Amino acid sequence: MTTDTHRVLRPSILYFGTPVVLLTTENDDGTFNLAPVSSAWALGQYVVLGLGCESQTARNLTVRPELVINVASPELWEQVERLAPLTGASPVPRSKRAVYRHERDKFGAAGLTPAGSDTVGPPRVAECGLQLEARARALTPGGGGLFLSVECEVIRVHADERIVVPGTQHIDPSVWNPLIYNFRHYHGLAPQVGHGFRSETAAAGAHGRR
Ligand SMILES: Cc1cc2nc3c(=O)[nH]c(=O)nc-3n(C[C@H](O)[C@H](O)[C@H](O)COP(=O)(O)O)c2cc1C
Repeated sequence: MTTDTHRVLRPSILYFGTPVVLLTTENDDGTFNLAPVSSAWALGQYVVLGLGCESQTARNLTVRPELVINVASPELWEQVERLAPLTGASPVPRSKRAVYRHERDKFGAAGLTPAGSDTVGPPRVAECGLQLEARARALTPGGGGLFLSVECEVIRVHADERIVVPGTQHIDPSVWNPLIYNFRHYHGLAPQVGHGFRSETAAAGAHGRR
């Protein structure tokens, strides 16, 4: 129902602003794939991903569950966008042919640097401030065959020294800044407006330490 303040709309996309992660997975031939994804959310030590069924990433995780979830920051938006028209799938699936092309060396194409992981085969992306080594534990079909929901258990977290509250295990939310995909536009975070009642960093954060 249309009211004075809201219209009924049928937008072509519903990407209302979620962080961009770069997923590294292992291909059949032992090389590594790298793909941007914004359907990612965390609960406890799990991250759940929404992956198109035809992506090389989904295929890789179906047979080799190890991955790294590399969380991007705003300064990496151009590298992310260089990956946007690429797929590690060859041949390129029919549904993607009009827009996508195959690329074997995604790191080279994006200008990003692989760094060895500790507990999984796929590499970390050195330029990302947060790198989550993980293992896909459950892959559930959804969207009438369109996508897979992939539950990933995070095994090890690597954080850039600069985003860690010194002497603690905490990420400093006043320093960490995720890249946000907002209706196909890239954003950083706006300044903090408040904090949750369970914040463990409020005293040391933007309204205290700096
Ligand atoms: C910023 C951004 C966010 C994206 N988010 C998703 C997503 O959440 N899920 C998905 O399956 N594809 C997403 N894509 C599209 C994939 O990156 C694209 O399908 C790519 O070809 C996958 O690579 P792969 O086939 O090598 O795995 C996104 C692309 C960009 C640029």
